[in-house]
Amino acid sequence: MLYKKDFEIFNNHPDLIYLDNAATSQKPNQVIDAISDYYKSGNGSPHRGAHHLSVVSTQIYNEGRRAVRDFIHASRDEEIIFTRNATEALNLIAYAYVKDHLKEDHNIVLSITNHHSNIIPFQRLCHQVGAELRYLYCDENGHILEDQYEKIDENTFLVSIPMISNGIGVKHDVKSVFDRADMFGVLKLLDAAQAVGHEHVDVKELNADLLVFSGHKMFAPQGIGVLYGKFDLLNKFQPFLSGGDMIEYVEEQTTTYADLPERLEAGTQNVEGVLGLKKAIDYINDLGLDRINKHEALITSYAYETLKALDYIEVYGDDKRGSLVTFNVKEVHPHDVASILDSHHVAIRAGHHCCQPLMKYLNHPSTCRASFSLFNTKEDVDKLVMALEAVKEVFYE
Ligand SMILES: Cc1ncc(COP(=O)(O)O)c(C=O)c1O
Repeated sequence: MLYKKDFEIFNNHPDLIYLDNAATSQKPNQVIDAISDYYKSGNGSPHRGAHHLSVVSTQIYNEGRRAVRDFIHASRDEEIIFTRNATEALNLIAYAYVKDHLKEDHNIVLSITNHHSNIIPFQRLCHQVGAELRYLYCDENGHILEDQYEKIDENTFLVSIPMISNGIGVKHDVKSVFDRADMFGVLKLLDAAQAVGHEHVDVKELNADLLVFSGHKMFAPQGIGVLYGKFDLLNKFQPFLSGGDMIEYVEEQTTTYADLPERLEAGTQNVEGVLGLKKAIDYINDLGLDRINKHEALITSYAYETLKALDYIEVYGDDKRGSLVTFNVKEVHPHDVASILDSHHVAIRAGHHCCQPLMKYLNHPSTCRASFSLFNTKEDVDKLVMALEAVKEVFYE
């Protein structure tokens, strides 16, 4: 699959080997052009005005919501709330709902593989309320150990795990964790930031009450994210941010709020972001999610096997993974590796990947991460390896 032609950035940087898709994806021309056209011909404030451009932007915004709903197989438009990113969606869950219901004798259960944005909001609430924060620990490959499921019990208020870990790449057995949660009527939150756009994500099949993701990791612009929630649950959320667009009536001393979804979307919304997200979904659907998934799996497993065969590289995790591989060059700091790779036009991520508890637990505080997208090829992996050989030469010889 040679889709680099759809991404203008590779015309501007012909030598670029972009392997940082888990941090943020590149944007196809279809997305960039749609946003540019919107500002040239359709820009208006959504929801507010009766004039033509306002109506057009409202329509674009609503169509985007419908596209997201269909893409993740939600039941109704009101179950889709637009946020800035996955981080904001997770904070919205924490502060618009969990905060009002969490009690001292409750516990919250998180996977040790969670991204910081899926830890800190709940850690803060537990501290405030005096509730217990528990972690599901994993084996060295990142798989949650079965005996950890017992931590989910009758006092658990919420369990939250990633579908795919951005820190080690492991694909979690969501079903087993959520089946255990169902035994006690526990709220189930899935962080799908590394899955949407790469894998088939169906909120019903996944049995999630709440699910979050960021548009910018799946070809949409930065600044648009999604919170999915089952309608009856979201309907119990109190406003997160207050202001324009989320109200019914405002009196001097009191306010009544709009229905979902507007109640949770205060202020002028990011129409260009929603449009970009819809165009990204169209792009993925046109290519076919199954084909994308198959291609990325092929490139990822090629990278995994190739890196594993190199004696100076330590690769983390097993083959049950999303589209990313984490590794270290033995005895070399990942930041040094990433800098040398950059001088060979190979862009990877190095560091703790916003997963410090996981990295500390696994005892490798910093790693290199190569993450793949539909435009990556086996040749890209070969170039990564050539650049790693250069690292080896600098440090070992
Ligand atoms: C699994 C996971 N969750 C959450 C996030 C946070 O995403 P954002 O920074 O777009 O809010 C990331 C970002 O890397 C992630 O990989």
